[in-house]
Amino acid sequence: METMMSARTPNQASDMPKHVVLVGFMGSGKSSVGRLLAGRLRRPFRDLDQIIESTSGQSVQQIFKLQGEVAFRAKERAALRDVLNSSEPIVLAVGGGTFSDASNRETLRDALTVYLETSVEEILSRIGAGEEKKKRPMLRGPSVEDTVARLFARREVDYQQASERVTTDGRSVEEVTEHIVSELGLERRALRNEDLGPGEEAQGVPEQTTIEVPEPPQLELVGSSNEVDVRVETSSHDYTVHIRPESGAWIAEGIAKLSRGRRIVVVTDTTVGKLHASDLMFHLKATGKEVSILRLEPGEGSKTLGTASRVYDFLLEHGLTRSDMLVALGGGVIGDLTGFVASTFLRGCDFVQVPTTTLAVMDSSVGGKTAVNTPRGKNLVGTFYQPLGVFVALSHLATQTSVEHAAGVVEGVKMALALDADVYRFMTKSARDILEFSESELTRAIAESVRLKAKVVKADEFESGVRAVLNFGHTVGHAIEAGESFQMLHGQAVALGMIAEAQWAEMEGYSRNISSSLRDVIEGLGLRSDWRRCQISTDAITLDKKRKGGGIQLPIVNSVGSFDLRTITVSALVEFVKRRSGA
Ligand SMILES: NC(=O)c1ccc[n+]([C@@H]2O[C@H](COP(=O)([O-])OP(=O)(O)OC[C@H]3O[C@@H](n4cnc5c(N)ncnc54)[C@H](O)[C@@H]3O)[C@@H](O)[C@H]2O)c1
Repeated sequence: METMMSARTPNQASDMPKHVVLVGFMGSGKSSVGRLLAGRLRRPFRDLDQIIESTSGQSVQQIFKLQGEVAFRAKERAALRDVLNSSEPIVLAVGGGTFSDASNRETLRDALTVYLETSVEEILSRIGAGEEKKKRPMLRGPSVEDTVARLFARREVDYQQASERVTTDGRSVEEVTEHIVSELGLERRALRNEDLGPGEEAQGVPEQTTIEVPEPPQLELVGSSNEVDVRVETSSHDYTVHIRPESGAWIAEGIAKLSRGRRIVVVTDTTVGKLHASDLMFHLKATGKEVSILRLEPGEGSKTLGTASRVYDFLLEHGLTRSDMLVALGGGVIGDLTGFVASTFLRGCDFVQVPTTTLAVMDSSVGGKTAVNTPRGKNLVGTFYQPLGVFVALSHLATQTSVEHAAGVVEGVKMALALDADVYRFMTKSARDILEFSESELTRAIAESVRLKAKVVKADEFESGVRAVLNFGHTVGHAIEAGESFQMLHGQAVALGMIAEAQWAEMEGYSRNISSSLRDVIEGLGLRSDWRRCQISTDAITLDKKRKGGGIQLPIVNSVGSFDLRTITVSALVEFVKRRSGA
């Protein structure tokens, strides 16, 4: 294999060109090498022909057939200019004829162009005579050999003008990639240093992690199909999420069974307190326990260290010991706060969740993440602390507004989209029934969401890997929440964030057709989908706690039911959001 270094070869990190572009004849392996090279360089891979196809809605063959080569070349020039405007450095594979166009070569003058040099004989053996050949519009004509030889002779002169040349004959895709990386010294400059924080190294920021998640736990039906238990397995203990149509004595009896001490304190907010506390208090007292209740102000404003301190005082005044029990009766705010207090009060006391919002039921009450906010951001202080049990009554959820209910369903949609195509299909098909509180559909939607959450928690309880998938939509979602001064429901903001992040992934070529399907589901739930019209605080993206140096880890849904985690540059996402929304 031969590598020719030209005057434009970058020898210094500061010379690292923004984009690496693979040129060469059809069959030289530009796309296969490009994909592998992009992984090594921790950059997105783009394929110019694919971009043209997805923007024009026609295959390259169709464009050639219906509009002719001149029209195709015009599209190609425009697509090339657009893709090179990408703020993030990419690896790009271009078509066989792209580099023969002088204006394209001019467009590519600041990129590192690498010619994958392949002999005519090798090209012919790679293209073969079958299906592959039919896909190539330039190979029409009676003799493929003659056409290839003629075309090759014409284009070779142009290819030789690339900054680098790497011969590929007799080499595997891996070998060619390896050669480009090592000979051109590219890998150590994979992430642009200017994107990293002071003193932070690019190394150790993985570009992509492909995730294996173990089989989810089974749903255990109790009595009828509308009474379901889901088991959650964690490192500290396993517990059950009980899902039933109505509230009533069963919740209090279940809590009493789990309670080791004499006292129980119910923490709730004034809204939920008025609606649901008296029933629970009545049944808890009937179990013979000493029961007290603390009602806090509703809303995100209560998720603070100041409020936690009030709760500690209340517990101390009521003589609570470590073996006594806290009950979180409310939405995600009460659940997160009470869990945080339970994990820290006397170094940890028992606690259970009685979630009353759909969001808390489908997501926050399961998995043991507790948190309070600080003036600098959401959930910045917290612990991992699992409840002893979770008690879900559909009747508790029925007092929410339909928008609050729909915003909660979003978290279930998020898990289904990333983890389970069947559940996603069920959720999209049954969205209306779920919204209208059909007992069986809603029970199933909740049970499936809890099951998927349990599966992720079992695989990665402390969020060192796969659990990050649950953050899908949350990076942009949090920026929208902050931009809208936290006046928007969390689930609504996540819905908008998921659409934005999916559109970004599509633009980068990581996935296809996810954002349009999501938009349909979100709109089907009666929620907003127009994220571009929101106020967005891009500072919130820059300060995101998932940030690692200049990179930020983003879950990417590649296709329905499958995802991977990518570390992308913060500035790329910020620029995308700014460009699309005018933020
Ligand atoms: N721990 C986790 O894993 C996790 C996951 C997702 C979200 N969260 C957190 O959850 C919080 C959002 O939760 P939320 O959306 O439930 O908000 P929330 O707890 O503030 O509840 C929203 C509003 O609904 C009211 N409400 C609650 N239940 C009701 C009912 N049954 N009927 C009528 N009104 C009711 C509340 O009083 C409140 O005003 C955020 O702080 C978010 O960070 C945590």
